[in-house]
Amino acid sequence: MPLLLSRRDVESVLTMEDCLEAVETAFRELARSRAVMPQRAVIKVEEHRGLFLGMPAYIGGDLDALGLKVVTVYPENPAQHDLPTVLGTLMLCDPATGKAVAIMDAGYLTAVRTGAASGVATRALAREDSRTCVLFGAGVQARQQLVALNLVRPLAKVSVIDVNREAARSFARELGDSLEIRIEATEDVERAVREADIVVTASSSHDPIFDGSWLREGTHINNIGSHSPDARELDTTTVKRSKFVADLREANLAEAGDILIPIREGAVNEDHIHASLGEVLIGAKPGRESSEEITLFKSCGLAIQDVSTALAVYSAARERGIGIEVEL
Ligand SMILES: NC(=O)c1ccc[n+]([C@@H]2O[C@H](COP(=O)([O-])OP(=O)(O)OC[C@H]3O[C@@H](n4cnc5c(N)ncnc54)[C@H](O)[C@@H]3O)[C@@H](O)[C@H]2O)c1
Repeated sequence: MPLLLSRRDVESVLTMEDCLEAVETAFRELARSRAVMPQRAVIKVEEHRGLFLGMPAYIGGDLDALGLKVVTVYPENPAQHDLPTVLGTLMLCDPATGKAVAIMDAGYLTAVRTGAASGVATRALAREDSRTCVLFGAGVQARQQLVALNLVRPLAKVSVIDVNREAARSFARELGDSLEIRIEATEDVERAVREADIVVTASSSHDPIFDGSWLREGTHINNIGSHSPDARELDTTTVKRSKFVADLREANLAEAGDILIPIREGAVNEDHIHASLGEVLIGAKPGRESSEEITLFKSCGLAIQDVSTALAVYSAARERGIGIEVEL
């Protein structure tokens, strides 16, 4: 019978270490053309200022995982409904029969797999000696971004910036204690960017949040917040100065204002996308080639991240007897 897994169940079995490995394998399989992943279906719920996304994938090869996540993005949820911005539910199926084997909450899972993708990209692209980070946005995604980063590049100092100052301050207190890192909530955007080896944008902003001329050489950027053609967190200067690695080239060209707006402006063309992340991971395209290069990972979020992570969750839950079996 299918296993029903609550958010708490998922939290109790999913570790960032396991997720990093699952997500990296999924990106490699995608680059080897062993995954099937249609462009996600997006419904704009204009009346309620929300997005509804249907994200199916099959990953063959080393994983053999089949599933579908439905995720919603409602930026006004935290202030107006005391709910997270991102909510999700995932159905995992047996690839041999198509039968559902698990239905699980995918809110926490989404944050962990998004953190893991940035972790995988950072491991592949950031300078080995990266120790300082600035984080834009102090919300749900930002937490897991920091957890993943600190595993692949242990950090000495983090600055966090949020238009909601109290959110930045409580983020600095909580994460500083739990990860034992020096985290400072700041409003000095220019100084924080100039000091950073790694920049993470995980905000709900629709417009650029810093000036790309402040980036120093050798910086790595994980750009994860924006994912619609008219919204971006990065300015054109940042994009022009960077070696641009997409989570998937086609997904970026369909959804990512961070590259689509500079293309529309005529500042760059599609060839500015150097590679998809999986191509770098399997060695089909080079990653960082000097300590001066600015590297940029643009993540829109891919269904292979969800389905590979869900398989890890399901396997761990079965092993540990977690969840409730339900007859559908
Ligand atoms: N790439 C992916 O795979 C992926 C996955 C999940 C969510 N997301 C996106 O990430 C974004 C953040 O999601 P979340 O769940 O953390 O939301 P959240 O609401 O928990 O946090 C977003 C934070 O950004 C802050 N913010 C808004 N404008 C800002 C600005 N100009 N500068 C600094 N901070 C600013 C808000 O005050 C808020 O604290 C959303 O746009 C979401 O759609 C991307």
